[in-house]
Amino acid sequence: MLTFSILTISDKGARGQRHDESGQTIRDIFSNLDSKIVNYEIVPDEQDVIRQKLTEWADKGETDVVITTGGTGLGERDVTPEATIAVVDRVVPGFAEAMRATSLSKTPMAMLSRATAGVRGKCLIINLPGSPRAVRECLEAVLPAIPHAVDIIKGVVTEHSQQVAGICDAN
Ligand code: MTE
Repeated sequence: MLTFSILTISDKGARGQRHDESGQTIRDIFSNLDSKIVNYEIVPDEQDVIRQKLTEWADKGETDVVITTGGTGLGERDVTPEATIAVVDRVVPGFAEAMRATSLSKTPMAMLSRATAGVRGKCLIINLPGSPRAVRECLEAVLPAIPHAVDIIKGVVTEHSQQVAGICDAN
């Protein structure tokens, strides 16, 4: 059972002026995994608020993955990647690389997302862009790798067990 949290980052959403369709899209896609949501919140595009929420959730130790949506673009108030980089111990570039690589075949606008991903303690944090369509396209690209990533982060699988299972081949 994988536990996940959704942090929607939107000034309008936080003021109650926009329905959070993207958060719902994330829930729907995660229902394809054996998973349970443990935190959900909408916060404004404020770097300190985002940092504080990511830190709180990751450090409580009850969530394997935090998915953020919104605030990854080029707007003045788009600060989600900066907040994420500030709190992770290690960046995991492959998630954003996969999202952009997949998305570029659908829209050239994919290159405008600065989404990133990383690990804080035993928690994987992944940024997604804000629109429901972008959430669907990006999350579907990375979803298959998430359970294995979580197993490695939590130390559930070792190099040896990965080789035995044929997931990661030895050289
Ligand atoms: N990625 C996919 N797959 N599909 C999309 O429609 N929209 C792009 C981009 N990534 C898009 C996408 C657009 S238009 C923007 S501005 C950036 O994500 C940043 O979005 P954000 O500021 O809402 O995070």
